[in-house]
Amino acid sequence: MNELAGKHIVLGLSGGIACYKAAELCRALVKAGATVQVVMTEAAEQFMTAVTMQALSGRPVFTSQWDARTSGGADNNMPHINLSREADAIVVAPASADFMAKLVHGRADELLSLMCLARPIESVPLILAPAMNREMWSHPATQRNIEQLRADGTTVLDVGAGEQACGETGDGRMLEPD
Ligand SMILES: Cc1cc2nc3c(=O)[nH]c(=O)nc-3n(C[C@H](O)[C@H](O)[C@H](O)COP(=O)(O)O)c2cc1C
Repeated sequence: MNELAGKHIVLGLSGGIACYKAAELCRALVKAGATVQVVMTEAAEQFMTAVTMQALSGRPVFTSQWDARTSGGADNNMPHINLSREADAIVVAPASADFMAKLVHGRADELLSLMCLARPIESVPLILAPAMNREMWSHPATQRNIEQLRADGTTVLDVGAGEQACGETGDGRMLEPD
């Protein structure tokens, strides 16, 4: 039995080279029978276009908390509430170092972090797939943030090791989409 069939996943992208893997992940989720609503930070749009993510998910992408389009069937100008209420899970892939630091502090100055904070915490799990340079990954601030996120009930996935876009080799690569 495919666990993903019929599930509604909000897929968040924050800024990092691994946004290209989010495109693959989106495709795989749709192929597995899930519906996918993509939400992107401003930085993520530097790495991947909303046009591509819309084409892969088959749904308009949300990038702004001020987006007045109807979302989740509601016409109240609150995508952060509507998008998270209808989700079976929120998956942020890639999760940047910066984005995780924001979550630790409950910051909410753009749609993706606002939606994570506003989600019904008991019923909508938050899953993060970190991706970053090895120095950023091993920095005490990042490791401290991950520990805190896990203590707050967030699932923080592991990272892979290997060649990085910056030319270095080490831990910090986003896990492969499958
Ligand atoms: C070329 C380039 C690549 C980057 N790659 C990463 C990355 O892989 N992981 C990461 O955490 N930050 C990376 N950054 C930094 C983030 O884009 C930056 O911290 C940004 O503020 C993240 O914003 P967001 O968390 O709102 O998406 C990169 C920046 C540049 C210019």
